[in-house]
Formats: sequence, structure tokens, C-alpha cells
Amino acid sequence: MPPILGNSQRIEQVVVNLILNACQALPDAERAIAISTRYNRTTASAILVVRDEGVGIEPENLSRLTDPFFTTKRESGGTGLGLSVSDGIIKEHGGRIYFKSAPGAGTTVTLSIPVIKEEQTT
Ligand SMILES: Nc1ncnc2c1ncn2[C@@H]1O[C@H](COP(=O)(O)OP(=O)(O)OP(=O)(O)O)[C@@H](O)[C@H]1O
Ligand SMILES: [Mg+2]
Repeated sequence: MPPILGNSQRIEQVVVNLILNACQALPDAERAIAISTRYNRTTASAILVVRDEGVGIEPENLSRLTDPFFTTKRESGGTGLGLSVSDGIIKEHGGRIYFKSAPGAGTTVTLSIPVIKEEQTT
């Protein structure tokens, strides 16, 4: 994995947010989450995938996930700021967050951040 240039504390904040969301989506202890990283040579990006076997997301909510204060966890204390803040941080790093989900079929969040170009290292 080639290095990326960025604020490690902010990136950590994003990763924690994604893992927390994945854990909170699990209906019981039999369901799992999986985390993996890889390098996409074609786009020269570092990829982090957080996949969960949780409740999934209604199609009409998919486009609203990163809206500030959008939450389906109001009763359990959700603020709806996790993904809004995370999306902002990743965009500041020139990256993107993608969501793939269906109700009952779990959720896959893919985070992509460009790696350091050779001219940035010299
Ligand atoms: N892995 C996931 N599985 C199912 N739904 C998700 C997942 N991640 C996000 N969501 C949906 O997106 C909404 C917004 O997520 P976000 O992290 O921004 O806020 P939150 O988790 O509700 O509250 P906060 O993170 O501020 O405590 C969630 O309320 C939930 O409906
Ligand atoms: Mg959250």
C-alpha cells in the first residue's frame, strides 16, 4: 500500500465512524463486520472497505446518508453528523465515500483516497 498524504487523526475519525455505524447496524451477535484495504493501481487510490451484515439501508435513504443531521437513530442518541463530517474530511483529502446497501442485505462502505504522486515525494 503506497502512502497517502493527510491528517491521520482526521482519517482515524472517519474510520472509527464507519466501524461504529457498521457495528450499530448489526441486529444480533451472529452477524459480522469485515474490514479490508487494497491499492487501486488504475485510480492510484488507497481503498478501505467496511462491510457489515447489518440491517441495510432503504433505497430512498441512500442519497441522504451524508446530509448533516440525517439519522434513523434519533431514539438511540444518533446525531446524524458521523457521515456528514466523514464525507467532508475525505473530500478534503481529495477522496470519495461510496455506499452500497439494500434492506436486509447489509452495507458496504468504500472509501477511496488518492495516494501520494511521485512528484509530491521529491
Ligand atoms: N452501516 C450502516 N448500516 C445501516 N445504516 C447505516 C449504516 N451507516 C449509516 N447508516 C445510516 O445512515 C444514517 C446516518 O449515519 P451517521 O453516521 O451520519 O449518523 P448516525 O450514526 O445516525 O449518528 P452519529 O454518527 O452522529 O452518532 C444512520 O442513522 C443510518 O440510518
Ligand atoms: Mg454514525
